[in-house]
Amino acid sequence: MKKVIYPGSFNPITYGHVNIVERGLELFDHMVVGIGTSIDKDPNTYLKDRIRLCRESLESFGDRVNVVGFNGLLVDFVKSNDTRFVLRGLRTLTDYDYEFQMLEMNRQIEPSLEYVLLPTSQKWSHLSSTRVREIAALGGDVSPFVPPCVSEYYRDKHAIPD
Ligand code: PNS
Repeated sequence: MKKVIYPGSFNPITYGHVNIVERGLELFDHMVVGIGTSIDKDPNTYLKDRIRLCRESLESFGDRVNVVGFNGLLVDFVKSNDTRFVLRGLRTLTDYDYEFQMLEMNRQIEPSLEYVLLPTSQKWSHLSSTRVREIAALGGDVSPFVPPCVSEYYRDKHAIPD
């Protein structure tokens, strides 16, 4: 059984992420969505909410997808899940630079890591969690960009700060 880790901040999960999960499951049997902490992005805030929203958004994939939070290094999280495969979505050239910096540093720490980088489908290539949070914080409708549970979450005025 081939297992992959799909790490990210998922702050919040968007339809772009859901699309990567769906396509990743064509390549792997099982996926662990790892909600990690980025030192740039106010790591621990609302981790529980991010996990819950991811779980609800991905429940249609059944037991092929697990959603868990992790606090340490990604390389340790990957190893603790008995795999060496990491999945990430790529939207733009800016993503490419950011991604390759992380990827190369992680591979220096753990050379056995193998990355699968999926280009985000064109429909969602403009989409970012940061912009979703901004629209939500200013009272806009984010339902075109995120699963219903996420837009409901923001409607209930629980906007997640960056
Ligand atoms: O969705 P994001 O914000 O691009 O995800 C970033 C994330 C969480 C994947 C990254 O920050 C991460 O791997 N954090 C875990 C801590 C870690 O291993 N840091 C070293 C990165 S080289």
